[in-house]
Amino acid sequence: MLKIAVFASGRGSNFQSIIDKIKSGDIPAEAKLLISDRQDAGALKRAEHENIENLFIDPVHFETKADYEEELIGILENAGIELVVLAGYMRILSPIFVKHFQNKIINIHPSLLPAFKGLNAQKQAVDYGVKYSGCTVHFVDQGMDTGPIIKQAVVEVKDDDTADDLAARILKEEHKIYPEAVKLIAEERIKVKGRKVKILKEEK
Ligand code: GRF
Repeated sequence: MLKIAVFASGRGSNFQSIIDKIKSGDIPAEAKLLISDRQDAGALKRAEHENIENLFIDPVHFETKADYEEELIGILENAGIELVVLAGYMRILSPIFVKHFQNKIINIHPSLLPAFKGLNAQKQAVDYGVKYSGCTVHFVDQGMDTGPIIKQAVVEVKDDDTADDLAARILKEEHKIYPEAVKLIAEERIKVKGRKVKILKEEK
């Protein structure tokens, strides 16, 4: 069973969507750890409720980002973590951390990458006037929101949408494709070659 750690800074609805699928036996993985950089993260409470080890690690207590990440790496290694799932984790991981867990870190972003990278992707989409947006699950590389794409879902942008309306519509799709992507990795059905991610067929 794939041992996963989830990093989250906020409410943790994506984290919940993944653990629900693990609990129902749909994903052959074990959610071993939830790590947050914010004490008030809803994700910490959800983990507590699900009896998943949860840690608030305050970056403020470390002199440098390298020290903070070294602590994270130690915790992940001790727990034998094989996949790091970023679910609303609001920090950029350094190239050193990313290299350490190459192709073992995934993220979900609320746009159809490579459009609207970075913060407030849903507002960027509404302001730009696109007719469709969506969400993307990708491996994390050393750029911001640039890694190889595992899955995407398309969502219509309606004429009178606010950024919040669009975010809510996208979130529903996030809750589908993020667990699906974790399942593919847990079932070892993903091959990465350069930027291309190939999904192998399910064995019957
Ligand atoms: C989601 O919109 C996700 O795409 C983005 O951060 C948000 C996290 O939401 N990376 P939640 O904490 O999983 O509810």
